[in-house]
Amino acid sequence: MVTSSAPGKVFLFGEHAVVYGEPAVPCAIGLRARVTVTRREEGLRVRAGDLSLDGFAVEYDGDTSTPEVDVPENLLDAAMGYINEAVAQARTAASERGIDAGETGFEVVVDSDIPLGAGLGSSAAVVVAAIDAATRELGVELPREELADRAYQVEHAVQDGGASRADTFCATMGGAVRIEGEDCRTLDTPDLPLVVGYDGGAGDTGELVAQVRALRESHGFVADTVSTVGDLVRRGETALAADDRETLGELMNVNHGLLSALGVSARSLDAMVWAAREAGARGAKLTGAGGGGCIVALGDPDELEPALSYAPACEDAFHAELDTGGLRQEEL
Ligand code: MEV
Repeated sequence: MVTSSAPGKVFLFGEHAVVYGEPAVPCAIGLRARVTVTRREEGLRVRAGDLSLDGFAVEYDGDTSTPEVDVPENLLDAAMGYINEAVAQARTAASERGIDAGETGFEVVVDSDIPLGAGLGSSAAVVVAAIDAATRELGVELPREELADRAYQVEHAVQDGGASRADTFCATMGGAVRIEGEDCRTLDTPDLPLVVGYDGGAGDTGELVAQVRALRESHGFVADTVSTVGDLVRRGETALAADDRETLGELMNVNHGLLSALGVSARSLDAMVWAAREAGARGAKLTGAGGGGCIVALGDPDELEPALSYAPACEDAFHAELDTGGLRQEEL
């Protein structure tokens, strides 16, 4: 039995545009997904009591029977798709090292602090931790770069090709990272005071990415909006290196406006963004795919957290501390 955990993240800048090769800067936070993997005779048994899914358990042998749980089917399909693909990657990684893992069964238990589909990188954290735990259960220790790459292949498959390396690289490495196409690197970053507001809802990443793609195909100028996000991220990197919080906040606000123009904001996200700004945030924006879920605000947590908690659109608000460790193996 092996347990691994990986952090969630917020995007300081650049979600969606990163899918088109523009740079993005996600930043790992102190919420984690823990995955425990135990070998069994055959088949795959998954238990995930804490994915904000009211808990589900499903047992099957490759052929998925629909579990009876009261959650949107697309979220559940996606959750199961991520685990299936993560286990497949672990088996392949082991086989490539001469270990015959084709028929090995696994019990996978997921225990996550990160709400599902809320823009905090829950799926990437689960996938990174699952591949690490499953490969180690098979006696293989993967280098972090390979792990991040395999986790990206999972997201790419489940999100029908509409995924960047942002979430998976960030969950593996921790801290703030910079992604531009295939180029992924870690960044030195100040410990920014970030507050997350959560509306209790979720967005379907694959669907939202497809929606932006359709908008970009119907209106040529939407491509300019996407490349403007890229310009903004490049300025944001300079501001981050200089710890220039005023500029960082300004750019977060502009980034939120551009994401709204791409059609991925929501009334609840806009309401939380405004509640944070009115409480003195230097900047606030939605984080992740959008459609519902979370915003991130830069400013004094003692001011922003209560202000957001009282906003009608907000179900939960918390100070998001920077996680610097990324993937880790948990003691049993
Ligand atoms: C999802 O957290 C961020 C998106 O940019 C998709 C991706 O980068 O894979 C919307």
